[in-house]
Amino acid sequence: MGQNKLSGDIYYPSKEVIAKANVKDWDELSEKAKKDYPGFWEERASELHWFQKWNKVIDDSNKPFYKWFTGGKTNIAYNCLDVHAKTHRRNKLALLWEGENGEFRAMSYYSLHRETCKFANVLRSMGVKKGDRVTIYMGRTPEIVMAMLACARIGAVHSVVYGGFSVEALHERIEDSQSKVLIVSDGAYQRGKIVPLKEIADEALKRAGGIEHVLVVKRTGQEINMEVGRDMWLHELMALPIANQDYTVEVMDAEDPLFLLYTSGTTGKPKAILHTHGGYMVGTYTTLKYVFDIHEEDRFWCAADPGWITGHSYIVYGPLLNGATSFMYEGAPTHPYPNRWWQMIEKYGLNILYTAPTAIRGLMRFGDAWVNRHDLSSLRLLGSVGEPINPEAWKWYYKVVGKEKCPIMDTWWQTETGMFMITPMPSVPLKPGSGTKPFPGIEMDILDENGTPVADNEEGFLVIKTPWPAMIRTIYGDDDRYVEQYWSKYPGMYLTGDSARRDEDGYFWVIGRVDDVIKVSGYRLGTAEIESALVSHVSVAEAAAIGLPHEIKGNAIYAYVILKAGSQPSEELKDELRLHVGHEVGPIAKPEKIEFVESLPKTRSGKIMRRVLKAKELGVDPGNLSTLEE
Ligand code: WTA
Repeated sequence: MGQNKLSGDIYYPSKEVIAKANVKDWDELSEKAKKDYPGFWEERASELHWFQKWNKVIDDSNKPFYKWFTGGKTNIAYNCLDVHAKTHRRNKLALLWEGENGEFRAMSYYSLHRETCKFANVLRSMGVKKGDRVTIYMGRTPEIVMAMLACARIGAVHSVVYGGFSVEALHERIEDSQSKVLIVSDGAYQRGKIVPLKEIADEALKRAGGIEHVLVVKRTGQEINMEVGRDMWLHELMALPIANQDYTVEVMDAEDPLFLLYTSGTTGKPKAILHTHGGYMVGTYTTLKYVFDIHEEDRFWCAADPGWITGHSYIVYGPLLNGATSFMYEGAPTHPYPNRWWQMIEKYGLNILYTAPTAIRGLMRFGDAWVNRHDLSSLRLLGSVGEPINPEAWKWYYKVVGKEKCPIMDTWWQTETGMFMITPMPSVPLKPGSGTKPFPGIEMDILDENGTPVADNEEGFLVIKTPWPAMIRTIYGDDDRYVEQYWSKYPGMYLTGDSARRDEDGYFWVIGRVDDVIKVSGYRLGTAEIESALVSHVSVAEAAAIGLPHEIKGNAIYAYVILKAGSQPSEELKDELRLHVGHEVGPIAKPEKIEFVESLPKTRSGKIMRRVLKAKELGVDPGNLSTLEE
């Protein structure tokens, strides 16, 4: 790439960037991978540690249940820690952390390895075995990284629930995963306040059976309820001989489950996406290395939360697999002032910043001066994820934060893909708002309703045509739904749920979701979750939620509510409903606006036609209304 003339607003990488890049010629690599993508991934897998080599790279004998590196034995946590603790990286920083209250911690590969092994032994002592599910509900502290790695080490399957979710969301996820152990922090600092995670968990546990042990991590230190026989402090157990430094690791099959991560889909309640040790490891390792161009001296900051896929893949697994230093910050970007991020980049000399468009827009609003107070010359690369980035935010990020020398890696991917799918690499010419092209070894297309590829610049359904190592294996406990949701519209192809177009240079432009998923500040929520929270309120008979464009958040939630007979509409009730959704799902799910209505547009079969509501709000043509019930 780069030789041909490209059309539009192009940003070419500098000579310095290209000189340093792990991949200098993307086209060449893509061509090579296209000719033999199993071979391409096999070569990448060979860079990691396996107790036993695979006998097959891809097993597609039971599509769409693809298997990768079958016969191979490995452990992702072993590759994240033990491997480095035995090399020159032993004393290198694995994790660098700042609390919102200014506390600071730094852990070398040696110490993260040691603490994680102890943590793993604590879990073992609680009876956690290979294959058991463990729910993790914590703020952003080093312990969440240890908790995840400790599970992986002993072969347990972690299910991290984002600390911004609340009672019902946590309850549902605990129940669905049938976890017996919950790891929770007493609280988390956010915007100078304490989010009472243990208190929320206590309420969720009243609704859910099954949890036998709760392991509590002390962070905020306020008084909390500790149920005798069920709840135990991590720090107390870590001080006992049971937490000894037994460094045994569970040898895992490449296809053994690593984690479940719940995400919102087209219909119904959130579904558990299942990822495995082998393929996910190869995918996250390779994509981070190539796209964020990881070098030995780099300090990489992925500013997401570990409770989402971005944090799983690129705060925890990707950076540690690469032996890099991963930086994590606990709190809000604007606390106490809007320069907090820039201050930390300067203070720790961070080299790469990977965040979401909503955060960029949120910080942009405070003006350039907050950024310009700080020396950001350590930055080499920037990244964006979660939703399409508008060119205005892209340019601000590029000019004001990156000083026109840091290419922006706009990475398109999903919880289901586990790893970057459409993404540039530093040596690739960029167009603001486009993630450029699919990663080497990945083939993607844009199709019309009938499965025919659309013409250049026309909008259609985005699909993936080749299997990839970090791909979702199934929806935990629901193979049928996995097939139905992702593989049934166009047989043999993975349906992303996004619409996109491709320009004359082959660059992909993702437009947004075409299903009932709403991206609010980059967070993925389903209309069904918000609606069911509303309906669980005593005054509500029916509800519909839609996403409408919002300047900072990307989308904001609007809800339409039919009240039960006898309930009176009022402003107070609207506030109460918003709080109720916050309490049940989480603050991010609170509707921006609630409207009381007498009826909702529905199809004759009773499905709410959200696009009609949306069209009405936006003042546009609602399209085909033939299925609308009178
Ligand atoms: C959207 C987040 C445009 C998209 C990693 C996708 C993006 C959904 C981008 C997955 C991007 C993610 N440009 N849209 N760079 N990255 N999306 O599962 O709609 O939380 O389907 O994974 O986010 O959200 P998820």
